[in-house]
Amino acid sequence: MHIKEADSQYDLKPHAWQADLQKQTLPTNGFSARTADIFNSAIAASAIAAVFDLGLFEELQQNDSIRLQEFCEKRGLHQPSIRMLLYTLACFDIVTLSAEQDFVRPGKAFAETCRDKGYFLWLVRGYGHLWQHLSDLVKNGKGNFDSVGRDGGYIAKAGRDYGAQFVDAYFTDMLYQMPFRVAADLGCGSAMRLINLARQNPELRGIGIDINDGAVKLAQDAITAANLQNRLTVVRADAGRLQARPEFAEVEVLFCFFMAHDLWPRANCLKVLQQIRSVFPRLKRFLLSDTYRADLPASRQVPIFTLGFEVTHAVMGQYIPSVAEWMDLFAEAGWSCVERRELGIPFSAIFDLR
Ligand SMILES: C[S@@+](CC[C@H](N)C(=O)[O-])C[C@H]1O[C@@H](n2cnc3c(N)ncnc32)[C@H](O)[C@@H]1O
Repeated sequence: MHIKEADSQYDLKPHAWQADLQKQTLPTNGFSARTADIFNSAIAASAIAAVFDLGLFEELQQNDSIRLQEFCEKRGLHQPSIRMLLYTLACFDIVTLSAEQDFVRPGKAFAETCRDKGYFLWLVRGYGHLWQHLSDLVKNGKGNFDSVGRDGGYIAKAGRDYGAQFVDAYFTDMLYQMPFRVAADLGCGSAMRLINLARQNPELRGIGIDINDGAVKLAQDAITAANLQNRLTVVRADAGRLQARPEFAEVEVLFCFFMAHDLWPRANCLKVLQQIRSVFPRLKRFLLSDTYRADLPASRQVPIFTLGFEVTHAVMGQYIPSVAEWMDLFAEAGWSCVERRELGIPFSAIFDLR
């Protein structure tokens, strides 16, 4: 019996159990560390999303050690399932389990997983239906946006988490370069960006705009929970067919995070960018932020998020423009891009349009 050791390119060290297996005579002929890692990573991605959704990451950040029974009883969770999810995370050093598997503590990879957990929620809960039905979705010869069944509420929740880690500091730094009182967020998702700004700035009024019912509800609930309903409102509307409204007339700054690619093809996006000035007549500034096409050679070095972003959008039939294509479009639409700032999300930037 032979267990293949991982090659150095793949950087997988053989585990102690592989040596144990070699001592025993288990039927592991042809066993590949590479495919095992791919298989187990898929399970770990779901486990990370579930554990995040259930509040365990938060709890582990606050308490260095958690008693599993107590955690499960308090939340009405099935303890054997949670133990297996944690065992999965322990396989990747995200947590460590005590010998009796009754206590869990952060592992070596806990901090970086906590930082990146929003990407996993986005992948698994936001686009789970797409991954499950991938072969069916690509059968009719064209991208299929409506059948993808993405979960807007979870996409918004995930975006709130990775946005807080990888976007907000870059954004506020750029935003406060110029004074303003009224802002609008196009494709606002959970509206967390507006809520944070309104908390920091008692004069600020804002309007969130989103096409998705799940996102609109999440945004409205979050605004009510923050007691900001006097200064923040949410409108359900399609950015592609935006019409002037009295409440839009005061808007001085418009921002738009991670949805502008939805407005392509190019001719359509051009029209929207041109119309924005008449829909928001007092607009001084448009901060457009998006993930752009990476155009990377195929390799295992592709960073987190990029592959998920590009595959999901290909299946939905949505074109992802490159930076050069964006710059060309801004110029044609009559916007001058005075700065492009890269974010903590791979291949993502804020374009400061005036
Ligand atoms: C990836 S999420 C980003 C949410 C939020 N801007 C953020 O940064 O967390 C994209 C959001 O844009 C919304 N959206 C997509 N197309 C839209 C359109 N045509 N008009 C308005 N909202 C749209 C989606 O419903 C979703 O909430």
